This record gives sequence, C-alpha cells and structure tokens, in this order.
Amino acid sequence: MTTPSAADLLHEARARERAVELTEAVVAYEAAIGAAEGAGDRAVLAEALRRLAVVRHRCNQSVEARRLCERSFTVAREARNDILAAEALNTLGGIDLEAGPLADARRHFLRAVQLGGASRELRARAEQNLGILASIQGDCEDALACYARSLEAYKSCNDEHGSAIAYHNLGMVSAQRQLLDEADRYFSQSYEIAVRVQDTYLQGLCLLNHAEVYFARERYEQALRNAETALGLFDGGVLQAQAYRIIGMVYRETGRPALADARLRSALELAVTTGSVLNEAATRRELAILYQALCRNQDALRLLNEAHGLFGRLDARGDLVYVDGKMAELEATYLAVVSEWGQSIESNDSYTFGHCERVATLAVAVAQELGLDQQTQTAIRLGAYLHDVGKVRVQHEVLNKPGPLTQAEREAMQMHPIWGVELLLGIGFPWDFRPIIRWHHEKYDGSGYPDRLRGDEIPLSAQIVGIVDVYDALTTERSYRPAMSREAAMAEIERCRGWWSEAVYTAFLNSTGATLPRDMRARSLRAETSQTR
Ligand SMILES: [Fe+2]
Ligand SMILES: [Fe+2]
Repeated sequence: MTTPSAADLLHEARARERAVELTEAVVAYEAAIGAAEGAGDRAVLAEALRRLAVVRHRCNQSVEARRLCERSFTVAREARNDILAAEALNTLGGIDLEAGPLADARRHFLRAVQLGGASRELRARAEQNLGILASIQGDCEDALACYARSLEAYKSCNDEHGSAIAYHNLGMVSAQRQLLDEADRYFSQSYEIAVRVQDTYLQGLCLLNHAEVYFARERYEQALRNAETALGLFDGGVLQAQAYRIIGMVYRETGRPALADARLRSALELAVTTGSVLNEAATRRELAILYQALCRNQDALRLLNEAHGLFGRLDARGDLVYVDGKMAELEATYLAVVSEWGQSIESNDSYTFGHCERVATLAVAVAQELGLDQQTQTAIRLGAYLHDVGKVRVQHEVLNKPGPLTQAEREAMQMHPIWGVELLLGIGFPWDFRPIIRWHHEKYDGSGYPDRLRGDEIPLSAQIVGIVDVYDALTTERSYRPAMSREAAMAEIERCRGWWSEAVYTAFLNSTGATLPRDMRARSLRAETSQTR
C-alpha cells in the first residue's frame, strides 16, 4: 500500500472540514502538515497550515489560529508564492474581523489584494471580506458594492462555491436593509449551491439566516422548518445557539410559552459557552420579550439590562458601529416593556387610564424645554411610566375609594414610592430612574413624602415628573372628584407655586403654553421677569 502524499492528505482534510467533522479535519490537516514538512512541499504546507487555522478559529481557538496563519505566511514568502502568502493574510484578516481590531482586518485584506491581486479567485474573496467589514461598520451600500464585485469575480472564474458565499452575504445585507424579497432570493440561490457542493456549514448559515427573514415576515412554519433542519446539521456551536433562538422565538409567537422558554434558555446557555456575545445579547432580548408577554416584567427588565451591558462591552471596542442599530432596537424593547408595565398598573386603578402615557409625554416635553440631554430624557420617560408602580401593593378599594381616605389608608397610599423602588430592587438599569419613583411626591417647600426632601435635594427629574403628575391628576376624573378644566388646573398649580423650583415651574408653563389661557401666559412671563431682576 502506498503512503498518501501530503497533497492527498490535504484533500482528505478539506473533505472532512466541508462535512463539519472538525475533530477528524484537525487530525487530517495535522497529518498533511507532517507529510508536507517531510517532503519539503512548502506550497502544501502553507495551505494546510492556513486551513487548519480556519478550523481552529471555528473551534474558538483564535490565538492558535493566528499563530498558524502567521506561519503559513512565512512559509509562503520563503517559497516566493505570493498567492499563498496573500491567502494567509486574507485569513488573518478574517480572524481579526471577529476577534481583533477592525483596522488590522482592513490592513490585512488590502495587503492580500495587493500581493495576490493577480488571482481573480483571491480578489473575489478579499472583496468579500471587505464587504463583511463594511457591513459590520454599518455601511450597507459599500457592503453591497463589495459583494456584487466579489460575485462577479467568482462567476468569472466559475467558482460556484464562492458565488454561493457571495449570494449568502448579499442576502444578509439585504435583510439588514429590510429588502426581504431580495434576501429571500439570495438565500435560496446560496442554499441551492451549498447543497450541490455539499457545504454543510453554508447550508446551515443559509437555513438560519433565511429563517430570520421568514420570522420577520411572520412565516413561522417556514422559519421553524429551516431552524430544525439546520439543527440536524450541527451539534454544538454558535449555529446551534442561533437555531434554538429562532425555534424559541417561533414558539413564543405561536402561543407556546413553556417551549419557547426552554428553547431560548438552551440558546442562551450555548451562546454563553461559545462566547458569542452578539448571540447572547440577541437571545436575552428575545427571552425578555417572552417574559414581558408572561407579565414577568422584572425578569424582562433584568434581561434587557444584561443585553444592554453586553452591547456596551462590544461598543467599547469603538469600531463596531453596527452596535448602534442593535442598541436602538434594544432601547425600543426596553421602552415597550416599561410602558406596558406602567399601563398594567393603571388597570388596577380604573380612574387613571392613560395617566402614565400622558405624564411621560408631557414630562419629556418639560425636559426638552429645560435642555436636558437625550440620556436624561429617556430616564424621565421610563421613570414617568413607572412612577406609580408601587401602587400594585395598595388595596384596590383604597385606590378607587370615592370619599376621603382614613389616616391608615393615606399612610398606605403614601408608601407607594417606597414600594415602587422595592419592586425594582436587584435590577440594574442603563438609565437610573429610581429617584423619580421614590421622590415624585416630594415638594420643594419640604411638605412632600416619603422623605420630606427640600429644595434642590429633590432631583430635577423627580420634580419634572412631580409637576406633570399633579397636572394630569387635576385634569382627569378621580374617584373622589370630577376632572378640572385646564384653566382651573393651571390656577391650582399656580396656587401651589412653592412645590417646585422656579426652573421646573417655568419650563412646565412654557411646554403647556400653547394651550394656556392668554392671561396665564402673561402671568408666567411676569414671574420670569421678576426672577431675573
Ligand atoms: Fe405617585
Ligand atoms: Fe401618578
């Protein structure tokens, strides 16, 4: 029996890798490396080293992967093989793309094009990688252009497999831009080729990313089928985590919460063990949406806060611009959970329907009038939604009592700011709105509750929600009195002038000014003038 050549061993290793038999692939590549070293075949050696680097990287061994790539580059240079040297640089850039600074990735790709540009095939892949880089940095237009050029180059050298990858990536960018028809088409084209050339990994990628598109189009059956087919292709790894996440999302949307919980938890566990931060953050967000639907608001907020922290960690790398989009999505979910929780509190108190929403809207307007930054405005909006969350612990009869409250009832009612903060105990927040919950009934003259704070001891945000809360309470019907007219309410607020700082009072008048009676506006202007004197 003849000993297989280094080239044969390399070929065998490639086949193992394509079949996602990674352990066997590693063994085969190592055998190829040994044989190439023995035979002095530097071309096969450089290629085997580089391919092994790719497998190591897929197994989350990036340090080893980088070392193998650098060795591949050195061997190729010694053999004066520019194409193989460029290949090594291109792979190194690929590792940087996921694990290193993006500036390094760009440098490696550009140098790869420079060194190996004579090869259309290599140019196709380097363009592909520059496209991925552009997409990561949020430049969809540039990404589409790079991918299109890459697809052209692949087609011109009849590289079907390469074309399949280009189609897949065009699908990804199209999905990102909400071009769902295009995304559908690209993923189908890519998958078809991936099956033909027996690239299991690419099949899995296509199935899962196409499943996300199906999910976005509410085609849950297809999304589920894709994710389950993908699951049959892998055991372990990031793709399995993504598959579980999609299955969990589908179960959630189709009214199977217990199954959804189980799948999303499996996805989370896998995302954590594989160290995939993006996947972990995405899964936490999906789980939060499930818990919100199950009225587990505290758990939902805890998960969202954790996801926010993960994105923050990615953002700290400074070069991942696309995190902004994810972050905005997350903040919108956060707001949705908080506002819905706020509204569910109102359902306990039949007279305050819409109260939180109105207080939130007007409080943000006052914050804008005061020139407060975006971060503070968000905190005020969230605090306004949840300012009365503690009322869930006040008895329904007390909340809706038509007559005056007894001393004991009033004391219970006045506990709601403290109970509200207690309910949020142990949950971290990207925006700290707890001071608003605790102190929205404090008054500037020291006559408020629960802590009898005075003057500027009361945080500005709590004063803002406080004045708007009073205004909304006056202008809506309560169990103990009918709604006041706007004018009467403004007169009442002016009578209680000592409860808020000059700045907050004036900003409140200005932001409701459009609907204020003429004489009221004149009076508020006079108040401003006298203050400046
Ligand atoms: Fe309150
Ligand atoms: Fe309130």
